[in-house]
Amino acid sequence: MRSLLFVPADSPRKLEKSLASGADAVIVDLEDSIAPANKEAARVGARDFLTAAKALTKRPLLMLRVNALDSGLVERDLDVVMAAAPDAVMLPKSRRGADVQHLSVKLAVREAERDLPDGSTTILPIATETAGAIFGLASYAGASSRLMGLTWGAEDLAAELAAETNRLTDGTYADAFRLARALTLFAARAAGVDPIDTVYPNFRDLAGLRAECEAARRDGFVAKMAIHPGQIAVINDVFTPSAEAVARAKTIVAAFAADPAAGVLNLDGAMIDRPHLKQAERLLARI
Ligand code: COA
Ligand code: MG
Repeated sequence: MRSLLFVPADSPRKLEKSLASGADAVIVDLEDSIAPANKEAARVGARDFLTAAKALTKRPLLMLRVNALDSGLVERDLDVVMAAAPDAVMLPKSRRGADVQHLSVKLAVREAERDLPDGSTTILPIATETAGAIFGLASYAGASSRLMGLTWGAEDLAAELAAETNRLTDGTYADAFRLARALTLFAARAAGVDPIDTVYPNFRDLAGLRAECEAARRDGFVAKMAIHPGQIAVINDVFTPSAEAVARAKTIVAAFAADPAAGVLNLDGAMIDRPHLKQAERLLARI
């Protein structure tokens, strides 16, 4: 999974367009993009869209973003939309691993009620949207077998910190946000799940998006979220492993397979050892 496209659940037009966007995952949103008065209509829209999309033979991963656990809205979100059995639920404003466990129990109840396989709905938390959430990042490891990745958010965090801006004049993130981004990467890898980069809100600036995708890939992120269909081609391009990278990974795996007792090898004049093998296997798992 390289790209995840947010779509407001109260927009039938955007929901329809999302399926043709090329996004690997579509995140049907009930939270920040939906005004309070539209929540119930959005739930019904999400349910109907997800039900129809699930029946397609070729479809993206289908994800539902519920409201935050402390919003008082999540039970109703799930009561309505779990009828469509989304593949995954995104948890905004997640504070720590225990929040994933709370959501997991709510999902387990709906799975049982609807005779869905126990544990079939996975969870993607947005893990840096409150100041306190930064200190909960270490607790995702081992929290739940439903955990399918970790992502971060810079917009809500800016509001929480009362930061005037989250970006410097050159477009890069200010320190507090770089910290949140880096800790998400550590936390995801420590938990054994995919680190997923946050959205690039300036959706007309594709050069800026590409630069941010490349920086994310370089640092270890495997995917990026999007808010506009026009961002998907760039994200997919950057996060698809290149033919050269795949060929090199295959060579490394083959070299160790040919010499299983070796700890370290000489590959065309460069040293390769176990960390290189792990990297190569991880890259091949993504294609
Ligand atoms: N998913 C699917 N289709 C989308 C889309 C999205 N996220 N964003 C825009 N589109 C569609 C539009 O409907 C439009 O189609 P149309 O011309 O057939 O009506 C086309 O893409 C071009 O859109 P454009 O005019 O460039 O943008 P806009 O002004 O319609 O929408 C936003 C701009 C930001 C309001 C819109 O991209 C959006 O709603 N993004 C998602 C916001 C969200 O979910 N935020 C929460 C997570 S941070
Ligand atoms: Mg938000």
